[in-house]
Amino acid sequence: NKKSYEEERLSKYTNIYNCNLVRDFMDKAWINQSREKIYNFLNGNFSEGKGRIQDAVRHSVVNPKAHFWRPLMALSSAKAYGVDIEKVIPYAMTPELVHTASLMLDDLPSMDDADVRRGKPSCHKQFDIATTELGFYYLIEKARTIIQDGNLPNKTKIELLKVSTDTSFELIEGQKRDLYGISLNKKTEFDEIIELYEKKTGAMFAYSALIGGIVGNALEEEFSDLYDLGRDVGVAYQIKDDILDVCGNAKEIGKPINQDGNKTTIIDLVGLDKSRKLIGDYKNSIRDGLFCLENYNRDVSYLEDLVDEMLEIK
Ligand code: IPE
Ligand code: MG
Ligand code: MG
Ligand code: MG
Repeated sequence: NKKSYEEERLSKYTNIYNCNLVRDFMDKAWINQSREKIYNFLNGNFSEGKGRIQDAVRHSVVNPKAHFWRPLMALSSAKAYGVDIEKVIPYAMTPELVHTASLMLDDLPSMDDADVRRGKPSCHKQFDIATTELGFYYLIEKARTIIQDGNLPNKTKIELLKVSTDTSFELIEGQKRDLYGISLNKKTEFDEIIELYEKKTGAMFAYSALIGGIVGNALEEEFSDLYDLGRDVGVAYQIKDDILDVCGNAKEIGKPINQDGNKTTIIDLVGLDKSRKLIGDYKNSIRDGLFCLENYNRDVSYLEDLVDEMLEIK
């Protein structure tokens, strides 16, 4: 009396759901505890008084207002593979460093020309453009050094470096399309915008999700699920970012709103309501991804908590 695929699926979801009730009861306390760990790591590694470039980097990276979603993603994926958090923390920082570096450039007058970031003056406002550019360079190399000098087998280090570099190329292409516009050769505008989001934001979240799998020796066949999962979380998060640009509160989000006025975002294409619904669609596909990992007996509950919190719109 074998259960149908749908029945099997339903009972799995019910399990995830019950498990989630218990975790909600625990108030997802691990997220803020991990945030504190991440902050302490960054605070210790980017300390004060080391010079102008280091100060600019510290200004941008060590900020209690940062969400640290990418390292949290790496940590919760590591949890799925039973990896000791202390062991993975340095590698979990690398997408945060590259991401912050990309924001330093993103805020420059040549790009989005934004004066405020994470509730503080953006790097070039606090320092200047040249310092920001050198700080960017410093951060990118710092991320690489963390992996290079880490205490992991060489094969694992090379894998991390490779995925990290591939991710940067995706991000560069995404930022280019964001600034110079998309081409509408083959696809619809909607598909092109989603592809842009996959590159500018999805790729870095995919890398973050992969970190847990790489350090935790995931099976070869799990990597595409991890990648898709991270990418979808990133795209959904970018849609949320676009929604907040239209109807968020500048003080709450720590950056000015209405910055995307001259850009075509998903909101321009489908409107606010459908954009919100689209996040719901992404949540479903993310749930499918988690279900796949569950089938490999991975504890996806941390990833679930995180996605819940990340994609919530108040
Ligand atoms: C930037 O996207 C994403 C990066 C890869 C830097 P946005 O330009 O929408 O980010 P915000 O709104 O300035 O944070
Ligand atoms: Mg931008
Ligand atoms: Mg911007
Ligand atoms: Mg934005």
